[in-house]
Amino acid sequence: MRHLLDIRDLTTNEIDELMDTAEDIIANPKKYAECLHGKKLATLFFEPSTRTRLSFEAAMMELGGNVLGFSEAKSSSAAKGESVGDTVRTVGCYADVIAMRHPREGAPTAAAMVSPVPIINAGDGGHNHPTQTLTDLLTIRREKGRLNQLVIGCCGDLKFGRTVHSLIHAMMRYKSIRFVFISPKELRVPDYVLETLQKHGISYVEVEKLEDVIGTLDVLYMTRVQRERFFNEEEYLRLKDSYILDVEKMKLARKDLAVLHPLPRVNEISVKVDDDPRACYFRQVANGKYMREALLLKLLEVDA
Ligand code: CP
Repeated sequence: MRHLLDIRDLTTNEIDELMDTAEDIIANPKKYAECLHGKKLATLFFEPSTRTRLSFEAAMMELGGNVLGFSEAKSSSAAKGESVGDTVRTVGCYADVIAMRHPREGAPTAAAMVSPVPIINAGDGGHNHPTQTLTDLLTIRREKGRLNQLVIGCCGDLKFGRTVHSLIHAMMRYKSIRFVFISPKELRVPDYVLETLQKHGISYVEVEKLEDVIGTLDVLYMTRVQRERFFNEEEYLRLKDSYILDVEKMKLARKDLAVLHPLPRVNEISVKVDDDPRACYFRQVANGKYMREALLLKLLEVDA
């Protein structure tokens, strides 16, 4: 039985195969329409979500399966003090696979230790979000035509932004990748992530001004300042508008820049940028459903 707790649970070949499957689903949806008939996905979301939960549910439905679950801890017996372990042992009696989001880092890993069915980490605190990363990789491959020889800028809350941590761990496997980290000092990439880059000899720079580097980037990965992870509201208010990507800044960027954002967006990308063909974030949302379909097929060991 395989779980997906961290993007590093998948080999590069497996990631490439998942992207190929997602592309085939996009091209031939009818071929996959009944693949998971009779299977059930449980979505256990102890923290809010729009895209991840609903794209998992849509993915399961597109494959002919069914879904059950809850979208907030307070509507489950977690509100009465039930442990994550007991919750997944229970839900594992009803479902064939579980997608779980939890505010506590490592909660999906703890769940996997006792779960009778595969666990998918749908985001754990500020730690990891591997299915978002699969979505991001497919988006970069579709938009840029490659996953190597890229300069990737990550901008915003690089401390608490779990999607950035997973993306770095995934992209560093591809050839000739350079990272440009754009954040205030308070929201830098954590040292444990930078140490991994140093250990593998991956090139990166850290800067504070987006305008200084936007013209050098192939991909710009914008992120929201994660209010829910701050201990101090004043600090959040001081930092929340550190970066706003607007039409003026887009004029400094390359003609073939791809702008990604895992969403939700707050203020960090002006809505006027949405009409720019380089804005990929809603195409990225659509890719998420197909990548999750490919992942469900893999974890449930079903071929089309
Ligand atoms: N990208 C993402 O994880 O969005 P949601 O929080 O809406 O699931």
